[in-house]
Parts: sequence; structure tokens; C-alpha cells
Amino acid sequence: MRFTVAIDGPAAAGKGTVSKAVAAHFGFAHLDTGLLYRAVAAKVLVGADPVAAAKALTAEDLTGDLRTPAVAQEASRVAVIPEVRTALVDFQRAFAARAGGAVLDGRDIGTVICPEAEAKLFVTASAEVRAERRFLELQGNGLDVTRAGVLADVQERDARDSERSTAPLKPALDAVVIDTSDMSIDEAVAAAIAVIEEKRGDRT
Ligand code: CDP
Ligand code: CDP
Repeated sequence: MRFTVAIDGPAAAGKGTVSKAVAAHFGFAHLDTGLLYRAVAAKVLVGADPVAAAKALTAEDLTGDLRTPAVAQEASRVAVIPEVRTALVDFQRAFAARAGGAVLDGRDIGTVICPEAEAKLFVTASAEVRAERRFLELQGNGLDVTRAGVLADVQERDARDSERSTAPLKPALDAVVIDTSDMSIDEAVAAAIAVIEEKRGDRT
């Protein structure tokens, strides 16, 4: 059975956390598409050409130290380049079409990559809440970060992601928006599962 769940939203909204839990709940495969852009960015930071790096991306490139603020910033810069985005489309669409069902999270899944997705969620939260969550996460991983620095990073990326002309960050018209500012992880996951259950029910 093919069933695609598209989860988009701004930086550190909880997309990955919700996506993993949803994938486990329904037995679907999960792809964090931000990792593709982060992997291209990591190559650019050591001198590669962004378009060539995107075209040559392999599964091995998706491992490693990609969760740093420097890589995140560079990812949002390479993500503006239309040829970089084009080079990553086929892989994402093939993943979305997997027989056992798939969850993809990113910025343009419901709008560009999978406009026909059976369920679309836009997971968001206030910039302050998102920055605090990311700050705690990075600090917990031993990175030398400040609250103000992480907030600035998140706001700069959100602006760049929302304002670019190719595949900007925005909810699809048929996406269900989940604002997790005042939700625990469990509440956010339960809200997402409820939306997807309803969409699955529509199909039977
Ligand atoms: O994938 P995305 O960047 O949107 O966010 P994430 O990596 O899933 O979540 C960022 C951080 O916020 C993680 O440390 C989560 O545990 C935390 N989180 C939270 O505290 N409350 C939520 N409702 C969702 C995520
Ligand atoms: O986890 P977080 O939300 O902080 O970032 P991410 O999902 O790993 O994405 C890193 C960057 O990649 C974003 O700021 C976007 O510029 C870009 N991206 C994108 O343009 N399209 C996607 N589908 C996923 C990520």
C-alpha cells in the first residue's frame, strides 16, 4: 500500500521527532530531507561545488556530523539554488512512493515534492520556543552555543527558507497546521497520529 505523509515546518519545530514517532506507529519508512541539504552543505564547507555535490550525493554522505549550526546555516544557503533542489527531487519522490508507506519531513514536501501526499502536516511553534528546544538539544550534545546565538540562527534560516523563490517554506493549502508551542512531544505526536488516522479512514 502506498501512503505518503508530508511533514513540513520551520527549523526545530519538532518535525523530526514527530516524523519518527509517526513512522514507528504506522510502520512507515522515514526520510529526514533536511539531511540531504545538510550533507550537500558539509561538502560545500570543505570546498565542493554545491550542484556537483547534490548530483553526486550517496547514502554514506548522510551520516556524520551534520547537526551543527554551521552546517545548518550553509544548508539553507545551498537550498536556495534551484539546481541543487532539482538534483534531490527524484530520490525524495522514489522514497515517498515506497510500497510500505513513507513519512518525509522538510520544507517543501507537501508543496513541491509530494503535492499528492495522502496526509500533509505543517508542524510549527513560536521562534522562541523552537530556539529554546534547539539550544537545549545542541547544548546536550556538548556544543558550545548560546540562547541568543541559536535564536538568531533559527530566525535567519526561517527568513531565508521562507523568502527564497524556489520551493519556499509555507504550508500547503491542504496541510493541517499543528502549533506545538504549548504541547509536549507526546501531545504533538498524538495530534499528528489523529490527523493521519482520519486521512487513512477517508481512503477505506
Ligand atoms: O526536525 P525539527 O528540526 O523540526 O525538530 P526536532 O529535531 O524534532 O526537535 C527539536 C528539539 O525539540 C528536540 O530536542 C526535541 O526533543 C524537542 N521537542 C520538544 O521539546 N517538544 C516538542 N513538542 C517537539 C520537539
Ligand atoms: O532540523 P532543522 O529544521 O533545523 O533543519 P533541517 O530540516 O535539517 O534543514 C536544514 C536546512 O535545509 C533548512 O534550513 C532548509 O534551508 C533546507 N531544507 C530545504 O530547503 N528543504 C527541505 N525539504 C529540507 C531542508
